[in-house]
This record gives sequence, structure tokens and C-alpha cells, in this order.
Amino acid sequence: MNSFYEMLLKRRTIRSFQPRAIPDETMDQILLAGRYAPSGMGLQNRHFTVVQDPGLMKEIVAATEKAGGKFVPGHTPFYGAPDVVVLSAPKDFKLNREDAACAAENLLLAAYAFGIGSCYICSVVPGLRDESILKRLNLPRNYIPFGCVALGFPAQGAPGPKARRTDDVTWIRA
Ligand SMILES: Cc1cc2nc3c(=O)[nH]c(=O)nc-3n(C[C@H](O)[C@H](O)[C@H](O)COP(=O)(O)O)c2cc1C
Repeated sequence: MNSFYEMLLKRRTIRSFQPRAIPDETMDQILLAGRYAPSGMGLQNRHFTVVQDPGLMKEIVAATEKAGGKFVPGHTPFYGAPDVVVLSAPKDFKLNREDAACAAENLLLAAYAFGIGSCYICSVVPGLRDESILKRLNLPRNYIPFGCVALGFPAQGAPGPKARRTDDVTWIRA
């Protein structure tokens, strides 16, 4: 099978990470793949914030809870990942959410290519948008977060994929 296609089918969300840091060169390559994601009107209207500060990650979780987000006791939303990349885009750009999501997917796939585990995380978006956290993120003017990707060396393999739906394609032919 073509190796890129194989990668698409084999990538899985990882929710358990080793504490060891991802080498900067690897992070740079993963971020470069994020930059090469398609973007609305080709404007590259998205920003990547690499958070390597467990203290700030805790504050984001606390801010999410303050905003009404609920986690089951003992749940660690970032799963102990050493790196979290926050995806932000301009608040008033009509394709902001799409741009952030495309960039996130490229990060997930590039991470997998380098043996790095990843998890796309949106549960903490309310916390990421808290005023105190926004100050810490120091985003470009009028940008807001739309999600984030936790990255790290996997602590254990992922379970196999869920069976895929087979009722989700419609073909329309002349
Ligand atoms: C938009 C989006 C938001 C997600 N948010 C979370 C999240 O907050 N926490 C989490 O553990 N996983 C989150 N995930 C990961 C999904 O749960 C995961 O992709 C799904 O269970 C399928 O597993 P797979 O990625 O291994 O195919 C999110 C995925 C997407 C696409």
C-alpha cells in the first residue's frame, strides 16, 4: 500500500504520553506540516502556539472548569503530554474554524510520521478563551483559539480503530 495512504488509515489518537520532550527539530517539522495545510483563500490565517509549560496547562484546565466545563474526577485533559499546540485564527474571519481544523489535522498526521503520538483536544476551548489565558497566549490581534493538539512520545500503543461506518457515502451519477 502507498505509505502515505497507509498512514491515513493507521494514525490513532494517543491519550498516554511519556514525559520526555519532543526534540525541537521534530517539533519544527511537525509545525511546518501545519503551515502547509490548506487555508481559506490561501490566507494562512491561523496561528500555532506551542505550550511546553505544565503550569499553564493546569491553568487552562482550571479556567475551563471555571467556565462550566466538566471533567470526570481524575481526568487529565492533556493526558500528560509535554507539548500542546494551540490553534488560533481571527475571530471575525468566516473560515477561521475550518482553517484551524485543517492545520490541526496536518499536525496529527505529521506527528504520526515521526513516531509522535497526538490527540486533538477541544474540551478545553472555553479555558483557552478565558481572558487570563488569552493574555498568557499572547495571540496576534483579534485571534482566538479553536482547539489544540497534545503531542508526545506515546507511553503505550493505541487501541485498534473503531469499525468504520458504511452508511455515510452517497454517490450521485448522471
Ligand atoms: C474536533 C475534534 C475534537 C476532539 N476533542 C477531543 C477532546 O477534547 N479530548 C479527547 O480526548 N479527544 C478529542 N478528540 C479525539 C477524538 O475523540 C478521536 O479522534 C476519535 O475518538 C477517533 O479516534 P482516532 O483519532 O483514533 O481515529 C477530538 C477530535 C476532533 C476531530
